[in-house]
Amino acid sequence: MKKRLTLTLNQDLSKNLVKTKADALVIGVNEGRVLNTISATIDAATNGAIKKLIKRGEFEAKVGQASYIATNDGVAAERIYLIGLGKSKKSLSNDDLDKISSAITNSLSAKKSSSGLVSLPLSSYDAKDLNDSSFLQKLGTSLESRAYTYDAKLNKKNKSVNHLKKVSISIESNESVAKLRKSLRVGQVIGQGMNVAKDLANLPGNVCTPSYLASTSRSAANKFEKLSCRVYGEKEMKKMGMDCLLSVGNGSAEESKLISMTYQGGKKGDRPYAIVGKGITFDTGGISLKPPATMDEMKFDMCGAASVIGTMQVVSELKLPINIVGIVASAENMPGSKATKPGDVVRTMSGQTVEILNTDAEGRLVLADALTFVERFKPKTVVDIATLTGAVIMALGYSTSGLMSNNEELAKDLLDAGVKASDKAWQLPIWDIYQKDLDSNFADIANIGGRAGTITAACFLSRFTESYPWAHLDVAGTASYKGAAKGGSGRPVPLLSQYLIDKA
Ligand code: BES
Ligand code: MN
Ligand code: ZN
Repeated sequence: MKKRLTLTLNQDLSKNLVKTKADALVIGVNEGRVLNTISATIDAATNGAIKKLIKRGEFEAKVGQASYIATNDGVAAERIYLIGLGKSKKSLSNDDLDKISSAITNSLSAKKSSSGLVSLPLSSYDAKDLNDSSFLQKLGTSLESRAYTYDAKLNKKNKSVNHLKKVSISIESNESVAKLRKSLRVGQVIGQGMNVAKDLANLPGNVCTPSYLASTSRSAANKFEKLSCRVYGEKEMKKMGMDCLLSVGNGSAEESKLISMTYQGGKKGDRPYAIVGKGITFDTGGISLKPPATMDEMKFDMCGAASVIGTMQVVSELKLPINIVGIVASAENMPGSKATKPGDVVRTMSGQTVEILNTDAEGRLVLADALTFVERFKPKTVVDIATLTGAVIMALGYSTSGLMSNNEELAKDLLDAGVKASDKAWQLPIWDIYQKDLDSNFADIANIGGRAGTITAACFLSRFTESYPWAHLDVAGTASYKGAAKGGSGRPVPLLSQYLIDKA
Protein backbone atom coordinates (compact mmCIF):
# COMPACT_ATOMS: atom_id res chain seq x y z
CA MET A 1 0.00 0.00 0.00
CA LYS A 2 1.09 3.56 -0.63
CA LYS A 3 2.57 5.72 2.10
CA ARG A 4 0.03 7.18 4.48
CA LEU A 5 -0.61 10.83 5.27
CA THR A 6 0.93 11.89 8.56
CA LEU A 7 -2.02 12.15 10.91
CA THR A 8 -1.51 13.03 14.55
CA LEU A 9 -3.97 13.44 17.37
CA ASN A 10 -3.43 15.64 20.40
CA GLN A 11 -5.60 16.67 23.27
CA ASP A 12 -4.28 20.05 24.28
CA LEU A 13 -3.78 21.63 20.88
CA SER A 14 -6.75 23.99 21.28
CA LYS A 15 -4.66 26.08 23.69
CA ASN A 16 -2.12 26.83 20.96
CA LEU A 17 -4.52 27.23 18.08
CA VAL A 18 -3.63 30.85 17.51
CA LYS A 19 0.14 30.35 17.55
CA THR A 20 0.53 27.05 15.72
CA LYS A 21 1.81 27.35 12.16
CA ALA A 22 -0.14 25.47 9.49
CA ASP A 23 -1.29 26.04 5.93
CA ALA A 24 -4.87 25.52 6.97
CA LEU A 25 -6.65 25.76 10.30
CA VAL A 26 -10.04 24.06 10.40
CA ILE A 27 -12.30 24.68 13.36
CA GLY A 28 -15.72 23.44 14.37
CA VAL A 29 -18.39 26.10 14.99
CA ASN A 30 -21.75 25.52 16.62
CA GLU A 31 -25.04 26.98 15.44
CA GLY A 32 -26.47 29.83 17.52
CA ARG A 33 -25.21 33.04 19.11
CA VAL A 34 -22.78 31.57 21.60
CA LEU A 35 -19.41 30.53 20.21
CA ASN A 36 -17.71 27.42 21.56
CA THR A 37 -14.29 27.87 23.20
CA ILE A 38 -12.38 27.03 20.06
CA SER A 39 -14.25 29.42 17.78
CA ALA A 40 -14.31 32.13 20.46
CA THR A 41 -10.50 31.97 20.64
CA ILE A 42 -10.14 32.34 16.89
CA ASP A 43 -12.85 35.00 16.73
CA ALA A 44 -10.95 37.07 19.28
CA ALA A 45 -7.67 36.64 17.41
CA THR A 46 -9.22 37.67 14.07
CA ASN A 47 -10.96 40.79 15.21
CA GLY A 48 -14.41 39.18 15.39
CA ALA A 49 -14.31 37.68 11.89
CA ILE A 50 -16.46 34.68 12.81
CA LYS A 51 -19.15 36.69 14.58
CA LYS A 52 -19.26 39.03 11.59
CA LEU A 53 -19.87 36.17 9.18
CA ILE A 54 -22.61 34.81 11.39
CA LYS A 55 -24.23 38.23 11.85
CA ARG A 56 -24.29 38.85 8.10
CA GLY A 57 -25.98 35.47 7.66
CA GLU A 58 -23.11 34.18 5.53
CA PHE A 59 -22.36 31.28 7.82
CA GLU A 60 -24.98 29.59 9.98
CA ALA A 61 -22.87 26.68 11.20
CA LYS A 62 -25.42 24.14 9.97
CA VAL A 63 -24.09 20.59 10.01
CA GLY A 64 -21.42 20.19 7.34
CA GLN A 65 -21.56 23.82 6.17
CA ALA A 66 -18.11 25.23 5.44
CA SER A 67 -16.76 28.75 5.15
CA TYR A 68 -13.42 30.40 4.55
CA ILE A 69 -12.21 33.42 6.54
CA ALA A 70 -10.06 35.82 4.59
CA THR A 71 -8.97 37.98 7.54
CA ASN A 72 -6.54 35.92 9.51
CA ASP A 73 -3.74 38.31 10.44
CA GLY A 74 -4.08 37.46 14.11
CA VAL A 75 -3.30 33.75 13.74
CA ALA A 76 -0.20 31.84 12.63
CA ALA A 77 -2.11 29.60 10.19
CA GLU A 78 -2.23 30.71 6.54
CA ARG A 79 -5.92 30.02 6.03
CA ILE A 80 -8.89 29.46 8.30
CA TYR A 81 -11.91 27.32 7.55
CA LEU A 82 -15.06 27.12 9.63
CA ILE A 83 -17.03 23.89 9.73
CA GLY A 84 -20.62 23.87 10.93
CA LEU A 85 -21.36 21.40 13.71
CA GLY A 86 -25.04 22.24 14.09
CA LYS A 87 -26.65 23.17 17.40
CA SER A 88 -24.45 22.81 20.43
CA LYS A 89 -25.19 19.62 22.41
CA LYS A 90 -27.49 18.52 19.66
CA SER A 91 -27.17 14.83 19.12
CA LEU A 92 -25.34 14.34 15.86
CA SER A 93 -26.48 11.50 13.64
CA ASN A 94 -24.29 9.15 11.68
CA ASP A 95 -25.11 11.09 8.50
CA ASP A 96 -24.14 14.34 10.26
CA LEU A 97 -20.73 12.88 11.10
CA ASP A 98 -20.30 11.94 7.45
CA LYS A 99 -21.12 15.49 6.38
CA ILE A 100 -18.76 17.02 8.93
CA SER A 101 -15.89 14.73 8.02
CA SER A 102 -16.25 15.41 4.28
CA ALA A 103 -16.50 19.16 4.91
CA ILE A 104 -13.21 19.01 6.82
CA THR A 105 -11.58 16.96 4.08
CA ASN A 106 -12.89 19.31 1.37
CA SER A 107 -11.56 22.37 3.18
CA LEU A 108 -8.12 20.87 3.69
CA SER A 109 -7.86 19.99 0.01
CA ALA A 110 -9.50 23.13 -1.39
CA LYS A 111 -6.26 25.09 -1.77
CA LYS A 112 -2.70 23.87 -1.96
CA SER A 113 -2.36 23.34 1.78
CA SER A 114 0.25 20.82 2.78
CA SER A 115 -0.29 20.95 6.52
CA GLY A 116 -3.56 21.16 8.37
CA LEU A 117 -4.67 21.75 11.92
CA VAL A 118 -8.16 20.57 12.86
CA SER A 119 -9.86 21.46 16.11
CA LEU A 120 -13.35 20.35 17.09
CA PRO A 121 -15.46 20.06 20.21
CA LEU A 122 -17.70 17.00 19.72
CA SER A 123 -18.69 14.50 22.44
CA SER A 124 -22.45 14.88 22.51
CA TYR A 125 -24.20 12.03 20.83
CA ASP A 126 -27.52 10.50 21.71
CA ALA A 127 -27.50 7.92 18.97
CA LYS A 128 -26.20 4.54 20.00
CA ASP A 129 -22.88 3.31 18.62
CA LEU A 130 -21.82 6.87 17.85
CA ASN A 131 -18.83 8.30 19.62
CA ASP A 132 -15.74 10.35 18.95
CA SER A 133 -13.86 7.21 17.96
CA SER A 134 -16.34 6.43 15.22
CA PHE A 135 -16.04 10.01 14.00
CA LEU A 136 -12.25 9.82 13.89
CA GLN A 137 -12.39 6.59 11.95
CA LYS A 138 -14.57 8.29 9.35
CA LEU A 139 -12.24 11.28 9.23
CA GLY A 140 -9.18 9.05 8.84
CA THR A 141 -10.77 7.22 5.92
CA SER A 142 -11.99 10.40 4.30
CA LEU A 143 -8.62 12.20 4.53
CA GLU A 144 -6.57 9.26 3.30
CA SER A 145 -8.96 8.47 0.49
CA ARG A 146 -8.97 12.11 -0.63
CA ALA A 147 -5.17 12.14 -0.74
CA TYR A 148 -5.34 9.64 -3.61
CA THR A 149 -4.01 10.66 -7.01
CA TYR A 150 -3.85 8.53 -10.14
CA ASP A 151 -0.93 9.24 -12.37
CA ALA A 152 0.49 5.84 -13.27
CA LYS A 153 0.02 6.43 -17.00
CA LEU A 154 0.54 10.17 -17.29
CA ASN A 155 3.50 12.05 -18.66
CA LYS A 156 5.68 13.65 -16.02
CA LYS A 157 4.51 17.18 -16.70
CA ASN A 158 0.86 16.15 -16.35
CA LYS A 159 1.29 14.28 -13.09
CA SER A 160 -1.08 15.51 -10.43
CA VAL A 161 0.27 16.06 -6.97
CA ASN A 162 -1.44 15.70 -3.69
CA HIS A 163 -0.43 18.72 -1.66
CA LEU A 164 -1.72 17.67 1.73
CA LYS A 165 1.00 15.87 3.69
CA LYS A 166 0.17 16.14 7.35
CA VAL A 167 -2.79 16.91 9.55
CA SER A 168 -2.90 17.43 13.32
CA ILE A 169 -6.24 16.88 14.95
CA SER A 170 -7.44 17.94 18.36
CA ILE A 171 -10.89 17.12 19.59
CA GLU A 172 -12.31 17.72 23.02
CA SER A 173 -13.29 14.24 24.06
CA ASN A 174 -14.09 12.09 27.07
CA GLU A 175 -12.57 9.07 25.38
CA SER A 176 -8.94 8.07 25.91
CA VAL A 177 -6.38 9.44 23.50
CA ALA A 178 -5.12 5.92 22.86
CA LYS A 179 -8.56 4.79 21.76
CA LEU A 180 -9.07 7.84 19.57
CA ARG A 181 -5.67 7.37 17.91
CA LYS A 182 -6.43 3.75 17.23
CA SER A 183 -9.70 4.62 15.49
CA LEU A 184 -8.01 7.29 13.42
CA ARG A 185 -5.44 4.75 12.26
CA VAL A 186 -8.07 2.10 11.48
CA GLY A 187 -9.89 4.70 9.38
CA GLN A 188 -6.70 5.63 7.63
CA VAL A 189 -5.80 2.03 6.79
CA ILE A 190 -9.28 1.59 5.31
CA GLY A 191 -8.59 4.68 3.20
CA GLN A 192 -5.35 3.09 2.01
CA GLY A 193 -7.26 -0.05 1.05
CA MET A 194 -9.69 2.10 -0.95
CA ASN A 195 -6.74 3.65 -2.76
CA VAL A 196 -5.41 0.20 -3.68
CA ALA A 197 -8.81 -0.58 -5.19
CA LYS A 198 -8.93 2.77 -7.03
CA ASP A 199 -5.53 2.20 -8.63
CA LEU A 200 -6.60 -1.20 -9.96
CA ALA A 201 -9.91 0.25 -11.18
CA ASN A 202 -8.26 3.15 -12.98
CA LEU A 203 -5.61 1.17 -14.84
CA PRO A 204 -6.74 0.59 -18.42
CA GLY A 205 -7.89 -2.79 -19.67
CA ASN A 206 -4.72 -3.29 -21.69
CA VAL A 207 -2.67 -3.15 -18.46
CA CYS A 208 -5.02 -4.49 -15.80
CA THR A 209 -5.64 -7.99 -17.17
CA PRO A 210 -6.47 -11.15 -15.21
CA SER A 211 -2.72 -11.87 -15.06
CA TYR A 212 -2.11 -8.37 -13.70
CA LEU A 213 -4.66 -8.90 -10.92
CA ALA A 214 -2.90 -12.19 -10.17
CA SER A 215 0.56 -10.63 -9.92
CA THR A 216 -0.78 -7.74 -7.81
CA SER A 217 -2.34 -10.22 -5.40
CA ARG A 218 0.90 -12.20 -5.26
CA SER A 219 2.99 -9.17 -4.43
CA ALA A 220 0.49 -8.09 -1.76
CA ALA A 221 0.87 -11.55 -0.21
CA ASN A 222 4.64 -11.14 -0.23
CA LYS A 223 4.33 -7.96 1.82
CA PHE A 224 2.30 -9.45 4.66
CA GLU A 225 3.45 -12.42 6.66
CA LYS A 226 -0.01 -13.82 7.29
CA LEU A 227 -1.28 -13.33 3.76
CA SER A 228 -0.70 -15.93 1.08
CA CYS A 229 -1.84 -16.28 -2.48
CA ARG A 230 -2.43 -19.05 -4.97
CA VAL A 231 -3.31 -18.54 -8.61
CA TYR A 232 -5.11 -21.08 -10.82
CA GLY A 233 -4.74 -20.81 -14.60
CA GLU A 234 -7.07 -22.14 -17.28
CA LYS A 235 -5.61 -25.65 -17.26
CA GLU A 236 -6.12 -26.03 -13.52
CA MET A 237 -9.60 -24.57 -13.68
CA LYS A 238 -10.51 -26.97 -16.45
CA LYS A 239 -9.42 -29.83 -14.18
CA MET A 240 -11.66 -28.52 -11.41
CA GLY A 241 -14.63 -28.45 -13.79
CA MET A 242 -14.98 -24.68 -14.01
CA ASP A 243 -16.31 -24.62 -17.58
CA CYS A 244 -18.76 -21.87 -16.70
CA LEU A 245 -16.05 -19.45 -15.55
CA LEU A 246 -13.84 -20.45 -18.48
CA SER A 247 -16.62 -19.86 -21.03
CA VAL A 248 -16.41 -16.12 -20.35
CA GLY A 249 -12.77 -15.81 -21.42
CA ASN A 250 -13.14 -18.02 -24.50
CA GLY A 251 -13.11 -15.09 -26.90
CA SER A 252 -10.09 -13.45 -25.29
CA ALA A 253 -6.36 -13.89 -25.81
CA GLU A 254 -5.87 -13.10 -22.11
CA GLU A 255 -5.77 -16.13 -19.84
CA SER A 256 -8.54 -16.31 -17.23
CA LYS A 257 -7.38 -16.60 -13.61
CA LEU A 258 -8.83 -17.71 -10.32
CA ILE A 259 -6.99 -16.03 -7.47
CA SER A 260 -7.20 -17.36 -3.95
CA MET A 261 -5.79 -15.27 -1.10
CA THR A 262 -5.79 -16.55 2.45
CA TYR A 263 -5.19 -14.43 5.51
CA GLN A 264 -4.45 -16.38 8.66
CA GLY A 265 -4.88 -14.09 11.64
CA GLY A 266 -6.92 -16.55 13.68
CA LYS A 267 -6.23 -20.05 14.94
CA LYS A 268 -5.32 -22.73 12.48
CA GLY A 269 -8.62 -24.62 12.34
CA ASP A 270 -10.88 -21.54 12.66
CA ARG A 271 -13.37 -21.36 9.81
CA PRO A 272 -12.76 -18.29 7.64
CA TYR A 273 -14.93 -15.47 6.41
CA ALA A 274 -14.84 -15.35 2.62
CA ILE A 275 -15.11 -12.48 0.16
CA VAL A 276 -15.40 -13.22 -3.55
CA GLY A 277 -14.93 -10.56 -6.24
CA LYS A 278 -15.99 -10.31 -9.88
CA GLY A 279 -12.85 -9.52 -11.86
CA ILE A 280 -13.90 -8.91 -15.46
CA THR A 281 -10.95 -6.77 -16.55
CA PHE A 282 -12.90 -5.60 -19.58
CA ASP A 283 -16.52 -6.31 -20.46
CA THR A 284 -17.33 -5.76 -24.13
CA GLY A 285 -20.47 -7.85 -23.64
CA GLY A 286 -18.93 -10.58 -25.80
CA ILE A 287 -21.04 -11.67 -28.79
CA SER A 288 -23.96 -9.83 -27.15
CA LEU A 289 -21.83 -6.75 -27.77
CA LYS A 290 -22.43 -3.56 -25.77
CA PRO A 291 -23.09 -0.21 -27.51
CA PRO A 292 -19.95 1.94 -27.89
CA ALA A 293 -20.93 5.18 -26.06
CA THR A 294 -19.64 4.40 -22.57
CA MET A 295 -17.96 1.08 -23.20
CA ASP A 296 -14.65 2.44 -21.85
CA GLU A 297 -16.25 2.36 -18.39
CA MET A 298 -16.29 -1.42 -18.63
CA LYS A 299 -12.64 -1.39 -17.55
CA PHE A 300 -14.24 -0.86 -14.12
CA ASP A 301 -15.88 -4.28 -14.33
CA MET A 302 -13.16 -5.67 -12.06
CA CYS A 303 -14.05 -3.38 -9.14
CA GLY A 304 -15.46 -6.25 -7.08
CA ALA A 305 -12.07 -7.96 -7.42
CA ALA A 306 -10.28 -4.70 -6.59
CA SER A 307 -12.31 -4.36 -3.39
CA VAL A 308 -11.30 -7.89 -2.39
CA ILE A 309 -7.61 -7.17 -3.02
CA GLY A 310 -7.87 -3.84 -1.16
CA THR A 311 -9.73 -5.35 1.80
CA MET A 312 -7.27 -8.26 2.13
CA GLN A 313 -4.53 -5.65 2.59
CA VAL A 314 -6.59 -3.73 5.15
CA VAL A 315 -7.15 -6.82 7.31
CA SER A 316 -3.47 -7.77 6.96
CA GLU A 317 -2.30 -4.31 7.99
CA LEU A 318 -4.74 -4.27 10.93
CA LYS A 319 -3.68 -7.82 11.87
CA LEU A 320 -7.28 -8.86 12.59
CA PRO A 321 -7.40 -12.04 14.74
CA ILE A 322 -9.61 -14.04 12.36
CA ASN A 323 -9.15 -16.10 9.22
CA ILE A 324 -10.25 -14.63 5.91
CA VAL A 325 -10.30 -15.95 2.36
CA GLY A 326 -10.35 -13.60 -0.63
CA ILE A 327 -11.25 -15.05 -4.02
CA VAL A 328 -11.03 -13.25 -7.35
CA ALA A 329 -12.68 -14.70 -10.46
CA SER A 330 -11.06 -12.98 -13.39
CA ALA A 331 -11.54 -13.03 -17.16
CA GLU A 332 -11.79 -10.67 -20.11
CA ASN A 333 -15.16 -10.77 -21.92
CA MET A 334 -14.45 -10.41 -25.65
CA PRO A 335 -16.13 -11.43 -28.89
CA GLY A 336 -13.99 -13.70 -31.09
CA SER A 337 -14.14 -16.85 -33.12
CA LYS A 338 -13.90 -18.98 -30.00
CA ALA A 339 -16.22 -16.80 -27.93
CA THR A 340 -19.30 -18.22 -26.25
CA LYS A 341 -22.45 -17.70 -28.33
CA PRO A 342 -26.01 -17.01 -27.17
CA GLY A 343 -27.67 -20.37 -26.69
CA ASP A 344 -24.46 -22.17 -25.73
CA VAL A 345 -24.80 -24.52 -22.78
CA VAL A 346 -21.97 -24.99 -20.26
CA ARG A 347 -21.53 -27.15 -17.18
CA THR A 348 -20.65 -25.45 -13.89
CA MET A 349 -18.33 -26.81 -11.25
CA SER A 350 -21.45 -27.55 -9.17
CA GLY A 351 -22.74 -29.89 -11.89
CA GLN A 352 -25.68 -27.67 -12.87
CA THR A 353 -25.81 -26.70 -16.55
CA VAL A 354 -26.37 -23.13 -17.75
CA GLU A 355 -27.87 -21.86 -20.99
CA ILE A 356 -26.04 -18.64 -21.83
CA LEU A 357 -28.78 -16.58 -23.46
CA ASN A 358 -26.83 -13.35 -23.21
CA THR A 359 -23.03 -13.31 -23.14
CA ASP A 360 -23.17 -9.87 -21.49
CA ALA A 361 -24.51 -11.47 -18.32
CA GLU A 362 -21.00 -12.84 -17.71
CA GLY A 363 -20.30 -11.74 -14.14
CA ARG A 364 -22.67 -14.32 -12.70
CA LEU A 365 -20.96 -17.01 -14.81
CA VAL A 366 -17.50 -16.42 -13.35
CA LEU A 367 -18.97 -16.04 -9.86
CA ALA A 368 -20.99 -19.27 -10.08
CA ASP A 369 -17.82 -21.37 -10.20
CA ALA A 370 -15.92 -19.20 -7.73
CA LEU A 371 -18.82 -19.56 -5.27
CA THR A 372 -18.63 -23.34 -5.65
CA PHE A 373 -14.84 -23.29 -5.32
CA VAL A 374 -15.03 -21.38 -2.02
CA GLU A 375 -16.95 -24.29 -0.40
CA ARG A 376 -13.62 -26.04 0.14
CA PHE A 377 -12.72 -23.51 2.85
CA LYS A 378 -15.88 -24.31 4.85
CA PRO A 379 -16.50 -20.58 5.23
CA LYS A 380 -18.55 -19.11 8.09
CA THR A 381 -20.03 -16.59 5.68
CA VAL A 382 -19.46 -15.71 2.03
CA VAL A 383 -19.91 -12.23 0.57
CA ASP A 384 -19.53 -11.71 -3.15
CA ILE A 385 -18.90 -8.27 -4.60
CA ALA A 386 -19.69 -7.52 -8.24
CA THR A 387 -20.42 -4.77 -10.73
CA LEU A 388 -23.17 -7.12 -11.80
CA THR A 389 -26.12 -5.20 -13.26
CA GLY A 390 -26.94 -1.83 -14.79
CA ALA A 391 -30.38 -2.33 -13.22
CA VAL A 392 -29.07 -1.70 -9.70
CA ILE A 393 -28.36 1.90 -10.79
CA MET A 394 -32.04 2.26 -11.80
CA ALA A 395 -33.06 0.96 -8.38
CA LEU A 396 -30.59 2.69 -6.04
CA GLY A 397 -28.59 5.23 -8.04
CA TYR A 398 -24.88 5.85 -7.62
CA SER A 399 -24.78 6.27 -3.84
CA THR A 400 -26.02 2.93 -2.54
CA SER A 401 -24.93 -0.63 -3.22
CA GLY A 402 -27.53 -3.37 -3.67
CA LEU A 403 -27.49 -6.15 -1.08
CA MET A 404 -29.14 -9.54 -1.45
CA SER A 405 -28.73 -12.46 0.91
CA ASN A 406 -29.95 -15.92 1.88
CA ASN A 407 -29.31 -15.12 5.55
CA GLU A 408 -30.95 -12.25 7.47
CA GLU A 409 -28.30 -12.05 10.18
CA LEU A 410 -25.52 -11.66 7.64
CA ALA A 411 -27.59 -9.10 5.71
CA LYS A 412 -28.08 -7.04 8.85
CA ASP A 413 -24.39 -7.21 9.78
CA LEU A 414 -23.44 -5.89 6.34
CA LEU A 415 -26.06 -3.13 6.33
CA ASP A 416 -24.83 -1.99 9.77
CA ALA A 417 -21.21 -2.09 8.66
CA GLY A 418 -22.08 0.06 5.65
CA VAL A 419 -23.65 2.72 7.85
CA LYS A 420 -20.73 2.74 10.29
CA ALA A 421 -18.15 2.97 7.53
CA SER A 422 -20.04 5.58 5.43
CA ASP A 423 -20.44 3.04 2.60
CA LYS A 424 -24.11 2.19 2.57
CA ALA A 425 -26.02 -0.68 1.01
CA TRP A 426 -29.76 -1.41 0.82
CA GLN A 427 -31.39 -4.81 0.70
CA LEU A 428 -33.48 -6.16 -2.16
CA PRO A 429 -35.50 -9.40 -1.91
CA ILE A 430 -34.56 -12.67 -3.57
CA TRP A 431 -37.85 -14.46 -2.94
CA ASP A 432 -38.70 -17.72 -4.66
CA ILE A 433 -41.20 -15.99 -6.99
CA TYR A 434 -38.25 -14.58 -8.92
CA GLN A 435 -36.47 -17.90 -9.38
CA LYS A 436 -38.74 -19.14 -12.20
CA ASP A 437 -37.54 -16.24 -14.38
CA LEU A 438 -34.39 -18.31 -14.85
CA ASP A 439 -36.10 -21.43 -16.21
CA SER A 440 -34.53 -22.79 -19.39
CA ASN A 441 -35.78 -25.26 -21.99
CA PHE A 442 -32.28 -26.49 -22.69
CA ALA A 443 -30.35 -26.46 -19.42
CA ASP A 444 -30.87 -26.51 -15.65
CA ILE A 445 -30.87 -22.72 -15.54
CA ALA A 446 -30.68 -19.73 -17.92
CA ASN A 447 -28.26 -16.88 -17.28
CA ILE A 448 -30.86 -14.13 -17.76
CA GLY A 449 -34.61 -13.65 -17.41
CA GLY A 450 -37.37 -11.46 -16.01
CA ARG A 451 -37.57 -7.70 -15.53
CA ALA A 452 -35.99 -7.37 -12.08
CA GLY A 453 -32.45 -7.56 -13.44
CA THR A 454 -30.57 -7.08 -10.17
CA ILE A 455 -32.71 -9.59 -8.31
CA THR A 456 -32.65 -12.30 -10.98
CA ALA A 457 -28.87 -11.95 -11.20
CA ALA A 458 -28.72 -12.62 -7.44
CA CYS A 459 -31.20 -15.48 -7.84
CA PHE A 460 -28.81 -17.00 -10.36
CA LEU A 461 -25.96 -16.77 -7.83
CA SER A 462 -28.17 -18.19 -5.07
CA ARG A 463 -28.25 -21.51 -6.95
CA PHE A 464 -24.58 -21.89 -6.12
CA THR A 465 -24.56 -20.72 -2.50
CA GLU A 466 -26.95 -23.07 -0.77
CA SER A 467 -24.37 -24.59 1.56
CA TYR A 468 -23.40 -21.44 3.49
CA PRO A 469 -24.71 -18.04 4.69
CA TRP A 470 -24.19 -15.83 1.67
CA ALA A 471 -24.67 -12.23 0.65
CA HIS A 472 -24.19 -10.48 -2.66
CA LEU A 473 -23.26 -6.82 -3.10
CA ASP A 474 -24.10 -5.32 -6.49
CA VAL A 475 -21.72 -2.37 -6.75
CA ALA A 476 -22.28 -1.42 -10.42
CA GLY A 477 -23.39 2.05 -9.30
CA THR A 478 -21.05 2.66 -6.39
CA ALA A 479 -17.63 1.26 -7.29
CA SER A 480 -16.79 4.01 -9.77
CA TYR A 481 -17.67 7.65 -10.49
CA LYS A 482 -19.00 8.87 -13.83
CA GLY A 483 -18.56 12.16 -15.64
CA ALA A 484 -15.79 14.61 -14.81
CA ALA A 485 -14.76 12.65 -11.73
CA LYS A 486 -14.63 9.36 -13.68
CA GLY A 487 -12.58 6.84 -11.74
CA GLY A 488 -12.67 4.12 -9.12
CA SER A 489 -14.31 5.08 -5.82
CA GLY A 490 -12.63 2.50 -3.59
CA ARG A 491 -16.02 1.15 -2.53
CA PRO A 492 -17.05 -1.15 -0.95
CA VAL A 493 -13.69 -1.55 0.82
CA PRO A 494 -15.00 0.40 3.86
CA LEU A 495 -18.10 -1.77 4.21
CA LEU A 496 -16.17 -5.04 3.85
CA SER A 497 -13.39 -3.93 6.20
CA GLN A 498 -15.90 -2.79 8.81
CA TYR A 499 -17.79 -6.07 8.59
CA LEU A 500 -14.58 -8.02 9.20
CA ILE A 501 -13.45 -5.65 11.97
CA ASP A 502 -16.81 -6.19 13.68
CA LYS A 503 -16.35 -9.97 13.39
CA ALA A 504 -12.81 -9.86 14.83
N1 BES B 1 -20.77 -5.27 -16.10
C1 BES B 1 -22.12 -5.21 -16.48
C2 BES B 1 -23.00 -4.43 -15.51
C3 BES B 1 -22.76 -2.94 -15.44
C4 BES B 1 -23.54 -2.08 -16.19
C5 BES B 1 -21.81 -2.42 -14.58
C6 BES B 1 -23.34 -0.72 -16.09
C7 BES B 1 -21.62 -1.05 -14.49
C8 BES B 1 -22.39 -0.20 -15.25
C9 BES B 1 -22.68 -6.62 -16.58
O1 BES B 1 -21.79 -7.60 -16.97
C10 BES B 1 -23.77 -6.59 -17.60
O2 BES B 1 -23.47 -6.37 -18.73
N2 BES B 1 -24.99 -6.80 -17.16
C11 BES B 1 -26.11 -6.76 -18.02
C12 BES B 1 -27.02 -7.90 -17.67
C13 BES B 1 -28.09 -8.15 -18.70
C14 BES B 1 -27.49 -8.67 -19.98
C15 BES B 1 -29.07 -9.14 -18.14
C16 BES B 1 -26.83 -5.43 -17.81
O3 BES B 1 -26.89 -4.96 -16.67
O4 BES B 1 -27.28 -4.85 -18.78
MN1 MN C 1 -21.67 -7.79 -19.08
ZN1 ZN D 1 -19.84 -7.25 -16.59
